[in-house]
Amino acid sequence: MKIIAVKSSPRKNGNTNTIIDKIIEGARENGHLVRVYDLNEMNYKGCQACRVCKEKGVYCIINDDLKDYWDKLRTADVLVLGSPNYMGTVSGLFKSFIDRHYCTKDIKMNSKLPPNKKAILVFSQGVSDKTYYKSNYDVIEKYLKTHQMEVQTIIHSGHVHAREDKELMEKGYQLGKSL
Ligand SMILES: Cc1cc2nc3c(=O)[nH]c(=O)nc-3n(C[C@H](O)[C@H](O)[C@H](O)COP(=O)(O)O)c2cc1C
Repeated sequence: MKIIAVKSSPRKNGNTNTIIDKIIEGARENGHLVRVYDLNEMNYKGCQACRVCKEKGVYCIINDDLKDYWDKLRTADVLVLGSPNYMGTVSGLFKSFIDRHYCTKDIKMNSKLPPNKKAILVFSQGVSDKTYYKSNYDVIEKYLKTHQMEVQTIIHSGHVHAREDKELMEKGYQLGKSL
């Protein structure tokens, strides 16, 4: 299986990255190939609304660090995406990345991606109530579902680091293992 993991927190050992690493650990133990993208280390723009992807039926033509991502996305079986919660929703870095997926729909807004991929979303927030921002995370979940992806979401909340939450760590590991 081909898996893409996209990290977006600037905190290398932060909560979202720690959970993503557990998922990767489980997946690699099963012999799956995981390609990691760390958005905070990459240079890329938000969508430029050039619509070349619509007019010419291609993936994004911007020549930046997301250049090789589109082909990896097309052929991946599983997508693991993580974002810290900034100001109630996903971070700016993550939103700019998601906006670039405009190119994955054709002019009629049908998906260009092969269907039936799996996606795992990982979010981390300071507010301990996991339902508090759920509707904002649902926006990302809903978008991925328009590509016929089966989506699972893990939320870390509060001020105890994710690595101290044995249940959450096990959940991440088992999710990776189950792929
Ligand atoms: C710029 C910024 C804005 C934040 N805004 C919120 C917020 O609106 N609600 C919240 O619950 N936590 C907020 N937080 C806290 C982070 O979501 C929280 O610390 C999270 O665990 C960080 O994830 P990470 O460890 O993966 O980087 C904010 C943190 C930063 C740096």
